[in-house]
Amino acid sequence: MGGIIGVVKTETLAHTAIEPGILYFGTPVVLISTTNEDGSANLAPMSSAFWLGWRAMLGLGARSKTAQNLLRTRECVLNLPSDALASAVDRLALTTGSDPVPPGKRKRGYFHVAEKFERAGLTPVASETVAPPRVAECPVVMEAVVEAVHPVADEDPAQRGGIVAVEVRVQRVFVHDSVRLAGTDDHIDPDAWRPLIMSFQKFYGLGAQVHSSALARIPEGMYRGPDIERARGVLSR
Ligand SMILES: Cc1cc2nc3c(=O)[nH]c(=O)nc-3n(C[C@H](O)[C@H](O)[C@H](O)COP(=O)(O)O)c2cc1C
Repeated sequence: MGGIIGVVKTETLAHTAIEPGILYFGTPVVLISTTNEDGSANLAPMSSAFWLGWRAMLGLGARSKTAQNLLRTRECVLNLPSDALASAVDRLALTTGSDPVPPGKRKRGYFHVAEKFERAGLTPVASETVAPPRVAECPVVMEAVVEAVHPVADEDPAQRGGIVAVEVRVQRVFVHDSVRLAGTDDHIDPDAWRPLIMSFQKFYGLGAQVHSSALARIPEGMYRGPDIERARGVLSR
């Protein structure tokens, strides 16, 4: 006899052990712009990203052109596409700014593209505090600098050096007026901001708000940390 938890029979709560090849349960897509050795711009989609305060952690294959550019130049722009930009993002899938294409990527069907903005049909605009350009079409863009590089899976000789978690500090946040909360200066309207989500390699949007939020009773201003004041001190180039 199965017990009852709330109104759900425990049989329906039974877990099955599985071994998925990937554990990408759904995170927003970020288009990272960086600068190549010759001064041109690279642009690459990624989604292993999260934010804490005005810091972001970016999980990247160490052999990607983006990781190499980030480690060399220490700066980037994090461009957040809306779900309406899925086709532009998809045009960048399976491309790399690396030439030659690393063997592992070649095997998975990747090919070299030098002009990523052109391929995606996106428009580069000059940034204020870093060299890589912002993506005009992205409703949210953040100019950022690298503060630390953390190795991932460093304890395993077979994986060592393959993945890095790059910690960046945001210096400027720019948004389209369409995602700003009416009547406020510094707030995003989560009902207007429609991030592009990657879940198990496929593209999704967000649904509507599903529940009231106890956490949201905390005014956003209470989260303002010292990195915001520090960012104000960064002069435009
Ligand atoms: C939607 C999407 C999400 C991706 N997420 C990541 C990621 O989080 N980390 C990563 O290293 N690569 C990710 N990739 C693969 C990179 O885009 C790929 O390595 C690409 O070659 C990087 O370009 P680059 O070599 O010019 O930097 C993702 C690709 C797509 C299309």
